[in-house]
Amino acid sequence: MHIDGSTTIVGVFGAPISHTASPAMHNAAFKTMGMNWVYLAFRVEPRNLRSALQGAREMGFLGINLTVPHKILALDCVDGIEPEARKVGAVNTILIERGRTRGFNTDGFGFIEAVKEDFNLSIEGKRVLVLGAGGAGRAIAVKCALDGAAKVIVANRTPARIEPIAREIAGTRSEFQSVSLSANAIGKVIHEADLVVNATSVGLAQGDSLGLGPKLFDPHQHVYDTIYRPAKTEFLRVAEGAGAKVANGLSMLLHQGAKSFEIWTKQKAPLAVMRRALRTAIYGDKS
Ligand code: ATR
Repeated sequence: MHIDGSTTIVGVFGAPISHTASPAMHNAAFKTMGMNWVYLAFRVEPRNLRSALQGAREMGFLGINLTVPHKILALDCVDGIEPEARKVGAVNTILIERGRTRGFNTDGFGFIEAVKEDFNLSIEGKRVLVLGAGGAGRAIAVKCALDGAAKVIVANRTPARIEPIAREIAGTRSEFQSVSLSANAIGKVIHEADLVVNATSVGLAQGDSLGLGPKLFDPHQHVYDTIYRPAKTEFLRVAEGAGAKVANGLSMLLHQGAKSFEIWTKQKAPLAVMRRALRTAIYGDKS
């Protein structure tokens, strides 16, 4: 990588940030495309988000990704918001053009592309059960409804967090239902679902489990976990054991990043290179 006075700078703000695989993914893309761009990671505390974005703008950065804990805060820190980011209630990508910041959300798009790639599945007409109503759960549930899912069911430990999702989905043609995040409540609806998604953070830590037994899943189902580290959570292991098709969140990470790349560069993202860079950064996989 050759950095000089005309290198275009993009990056990610988060706290914590040291674990991020996004620089590996984007810098591999810039290198393979022969672009004089660089992607950097910055630790930014929530109280400093507004001034950090102002600094990025004043220093001529072209784009910023936002990760935990900034995605919701950023709604109040940008000059304009794309309709999908507004509906999802979060911004994960900012484009800085002519001194103005514009907020996008590419997480929902990343999910839709991920299930296309991993399961060859189109969301249109499908029934989707989303476990979790945080940032990721909301983006997935709302995007599925916007893309024509027949039904979206959302389960969350804290019921109040489902309300904004219900309000957004009410404006679409999808049927909506909320249930509590217990094996018992989920057991009553899961048989309806073509696609089951874990969008909670349960499974990130070893021994963490949602407590869903193998009897809940069946072989016609597609089961996706937004977690990619570990590569196979207990949730995916149980679902796979029951014969369901399973995939982890690496593909969603890839496709949300590819969409950010395209928003910034206006060029098609080199997916194979980006996927390989992610796999190496996350799993140490050189294949
Ligand atoms: P993200 O942006 O990754 O979605 P988040 O907004 O903090 O992160 O959301 C985390 C999700 O995991 C939420 O659905 C959260 O449930 P609550 O809304 O009830 O907090 C869920 N979650 C986290 N820890 C959990 C646990 N121990 N049991 C059940 N759900 C949990």
